[in-house]
Amino acid sequence: MNNQKTLILPSTNAGIEKGAKLLLQGEIVAFPTETVYGLGACVFNQSAIQKIYIAKGRPTDNPLIIHCAERADVERVAVQIPALFDTLFQKFAPGPLTMILKKHDVVPDSVCAGLPTVAVRFPQHPVAQALIRRVGEPLVAPSANRSGYVSPTKANHVMDDLAGRISAVIDGGACAVGVESTVLNILLNPPVILRPGMIKKEDIEQVLGLPIAERLSTELVNIPQSPGTKYRHYQPEAKVILITKDSEAKQFSDNPKHQPLWQTSTEPLPGYQLLHEQNVYDLFREADKQHIKTIIVLCNAEPPYNSALMNRLQKAAEISFLPHDESIVRTS
Ligand code: TXA
Ligand code: MG
Repeated sequence: MNNQKTLILPSTNAGIEKGAKLLLQGEIVAFPTETVYGLGACVFNQSAIQKIYIAKGRPTDNPLIIHCAERADVERVAVQIPALFDTLFQKFAPGPLTMILKKHDVVPDSVCAGLPTVAVRFPQHPVAQALIRRVGEPLVAPSANRSGYVSPTKANHVMDDLAGRISAVIDGGACAVGVESTVLNILLNPPVILRPGMIKKEDIEQVLGLPIAERLSTELVNIPQSPGTKYRHYQPEAKVILITKDSEAKQFSDNPKHQPLWQTSTEPLPGYQLLHEQNVYDLFREADKQHIKTIIVLCNAEPPYNSALMNRLQKAAEISFLPHDESIVRTS
């Protein structure tokens, strides 16, 4: 498992054809999506799904997202699809929105970690779409990183984490969105965002014409709704420290001159580099390559925040000067 040859395939017809062939043979293949790279397997192939959990070192109680190319694919993996789904599908598909639906019996339990639901999304990236169409069935695909580490937004990130453990990666360049999809449970009333992403609460509310929740109610918070959100995630080796004032940086840096400082607000401050969804994971990985010990990020102390970026930063952070946010669960 650890020493197979991992092919780097081009994102041409021939590369997609080769990737599809490997998937149909029960192998696992990483591919680009508009959010982050996914590690794909055929949804109905149980042994390929096992390979994903092993290659990533992923806990088996953390379910996988099913990637579809067509609306008709959904009927193969879900039942009792509510009208809400089609309203959101028409507006946001293909794109970075994942919706929770009732599971079809034919979907292996290992996809959903025993839950009665499935998570479905329609990637916008043309390579992801072509690959699913060529395979002829939906693909499960978690982010193509070692479990717990930073998600990959470039093919070389996938190779750094998984070379020797997977059959191939299709190189589609850098991912445009840079953070994972918004996960929305549309079976709950009102629907609840389980993971913030590029598609925001307000965007969804505008389409549905009704309010949705950005966190689970207290009755639901202890019932696992999206098991992955309870694990450590997005964490570089470097210690991530979130500050709210420039003066807070000094106590964490021996030599502030050589300490890279990042900021999330768009008003540029001298000495700080701008951090956003598209570069956050790449910068985390670069910092680790350079053996940087601490990553200091100056954050807006007051809303409006970029909810997806702040969610990832707060999950990654060892130390935070931001007000406590109960929706950010950090267990090791
Ligand atoms: O943008 C994305 O969503 C990327 C690309 C590759 O599509 N995928 C991704 O997958 O981020 P992963 O496995 O890293 O995260 C999937 C999240 C986890 O938090 C998991 O718990 C949740 O989706 N999830 C999967 N199935 C679920 C289900 N049936 N109910 C609730 N949450 C679910
Ligand atoms: Mg992930």
